[in-house]
Amino acid sequence: METEVIHIKDENDLAEATGVAASLLHSGEAVAFPTETVYGLGADALNPEAVAKIFAAKNRPADNPLIVHLTDQSQLDGLVSDIPPIARTLMSAFWPGQLSLVLPKKATVPDITTGGLGTVVVRCPQHPTARTLLERFGGPIAAPSANLSGKVSPTRAAHVLEDMQGRIPLILEDDAGVTGGLESTVVDCTTEPLTILRPGSVTEEMLREYAPDITVAQSNSPQRSPGMKYQHYAPTAPVTLFLGEETATAEAIARQVAKHKPGTVVCIWHTGDFPTNTHSIRLPVSTGAAASVIFAALRRADQLHPQHIFIQGYPTMGVGTAIMNRLQKAATTTISC
Ligand code: TXA
Ligand code: MG
Repeated sequence: METEVIHIKDENDLAEATGVAASLLHSGEAVAFPTETVYGLGADALNPEAVAKIFAAKNRPADNPLIVHLTDQSQLDGLVSDIPPIARTLMSAFWPGQLSLVLPKKATVPDITTGGLGTVVVRCPQHPTARTLLERFGGPIAAPSANLSGKVSPTRAAHVLEDMQGRIPLILEDDAGVTGGLESTVVDCTTEPLTILRPGSVTEEMLREYAPDITVAQSNSPQRSPGMKYQHYAPTAPVTLFLGEETATAEAIARQVAKHKPGTVVCIWHTGDFPTNTHSIRLPVSTGAAASVIFAALRRADQLHPQHIFIQGYPTMGVGTAIMNRLQKAATTTISC
């Protein structure tokens, strides 16, 4: 199949492009669109054959459920059977935005959308293209990140095309609004206290203001997201992640680089003096700014076909926790300095 890319530059393009995408969704196709976190691969959440096309295009395991995207809270009645008051509080505080909530599902949501679980994850995105598409379509849109399963989530239309060319009919391109760069925070509202299943830009500290006793799922706990057990964010080359204080990690990376032939490794770093005789991708020191470019850096590193990728870790505070969660999954080895 031919994959068309429609670039959205202004309001006219937005109206026209989302009209084309909405009719494809109505005819049961899967289309890629930007959200403020990462690009999503969307289909009609209530149409099992349409949702099956998402799983096929991504090679996604059937037991890894999808996030259902909504225009606003009014669409929840058709999808979920119970909304605890704390879930309403979080929606009022963070929607539209980078927070997804696990709630008990109604029978209207097909099993394929939720991987057979009795719960469904819902999110109301903020990106204007995502919002306009949801309004034009008029119903809930199931959308995982628009990468091949196991690969790095796409933050540019070009990344989606790399993975999805020939697999889907349409990509809506509007990179400017992809400001978050990490997938949304996932919070389970069916547990007491609430549980953070996946860290994101809506941080534990931010959630704690509304849910003081919220907990974080341990990586081996049974209630974690099904998706967290799969290999993720994996460049082709082995990735070593360096943990610790910045001067120590910079020095340790320099020592490792010295052991390799010039130009055969890629360093992804943010602080310190780095060797000049190899590929290096410099990231912002601030974790807020780094979050929006980290996935693009992983994809760029991969395209240089190195023998090894070395990454300098960030402090695990605030958004740094979410960045390090993704980098730990990308890493084949971690070294504490
Ligand atoms: O920012 C985002 O969340 C992006 C954009 C497109 O909205 N979407 C996204 O979807 O990251 P995906 O499928 O790549 O990640 C969804 C995560 C997976 O780890 C999945 O296992 C988990 O949410 N999940 C989905 N339904 C669940 C459920 N009912 N219970 C627990 N975890 C669930
Ligand atoms: Mg994903």
